[in-house]
Amino acid sequence: MRKSLLVGQGAYLPERIVTNAELAKSVDTTDDWIVQRTGIYQRHIAADGELTSDLAIAAAEKALVSAGLEASDIDLIVLATTTPDDTFPATATKVQATLGITHGAAFDVQAVCAGFVYSLAIADNFIKAGQAQRALVIGAETFTRLLDWQDRTTCVLFGDGAGAVILEATDASDANAAYGVLSTHLHSDGRFRDILFVDGGPSATKTVGQVRMNGKEVFRHAVGKLANVIDETLTTHALGVDDIDWLIPHQANRRIIDNLTAKLGLPVERVVCAIERHANTSAASVPLALAESMASGDIKSGDLVLFEAIGGGLSWGAGLVRLGRP
Ligand code: UT7
Repeated sequence: MRKSLLVGQGAYLPERIVTNAELAKSVDTTDDWIVQRTGIYQRHIAADGELTSDLAIAAAEKALVSAGLEASDIDLIVLATTTPDDTFPATATKVQATLGITHGAAFDVQAVCAGFVYSLAIADNFIKAGQAQRALVIGAETFTRLLDWQDRTTCVLFGDGAGAVILEATDASDANAAYGVLSTHLHSDGRFRDILFVDGGPSATKTVGQVRMNGKEVFRHAVGKLANVIDETLTTHALGVDDIDWLIPHQANRRIIDNLTAKLGLPVERVVCAIERHANTSAASVPLALAESMASGDIKSGDLVLFEAIGGGLSWGAGLVRLGRP
């Protein structure tokens, strides 16, 4: 029996920061509205010519350093993104080539904001099945390229960024039992496709399209479905919220995080919130928040961390991981 340990992490944010006040110069909004309704103060936006693969590679390189590994140690790359460089080939193959890796497999995963949790589950299952030894799992987005900058109900909400983690195979012995990916829980319900979508695509319109959202409906589903999947995760392990060191929620709206935290009875001090600085970076939000919190020393190797995310589809999920090597 095999299992995966989470042995490294890294993040990257584009240099350019756009504040709410700057956005308010070109769209009918205010800093006050954005802060009150979302908790967002600013977002990072990729430079012209800076692509999702560039963000992904920068985060991956940091993850390799933190794990003490070489790129050649990696035999699987799973890249969660809704904003690939090109329609094909997979952006993961560009990351693979740039890192100089010529063995193993590399592919993209499309589960929008839930993409990192989905990719973590996929990589964990590859490792458990004996099909990979060390996996680079990346969430990377230049999500702002999908925005309609005239639509104030969406354009203020998102940002660009990347986060990466490394999973490493080990044996599922008693010594390793408490560590690594303990479980992942994935869900989709395509009946809700039309409350959050992009109005274009290679098959439907031959264009890229822009984000459209019924924010109130997404908000309602988010609070309920995320609470349920967290409950499902804790029940699987017969754990209570007090047993969790940290919740790293998807960073979509401060009010969703606060609602969820109150519903679960989780102290706010153990909930990571980076939305004020990053806005919603879609698939990057969870690994980005993890890597930043570990770099600041808030989250440490050995901590028990619960990840969750929800996005277009609807697709959502959670993962329970004890970080580091035993
Ligand atoms: O990753 C998963 C994807 N996304 C999410 O999880 C997002 C979920 N939804 C949300 O975060 C919230 O629903 C929003 C932040 C999108 C919207 O907040 P809300 O409290 O649900 O506002 P609302 O849509 O009910 O709009 C309230 C008012 C409206 O004006 P009226 O009709 O009351 O006159 C909007 O037109 O706020 C107006 N409004 C704005 N005003 C200033 C909407 N966007 C803005 C804006 N600036 N940017």
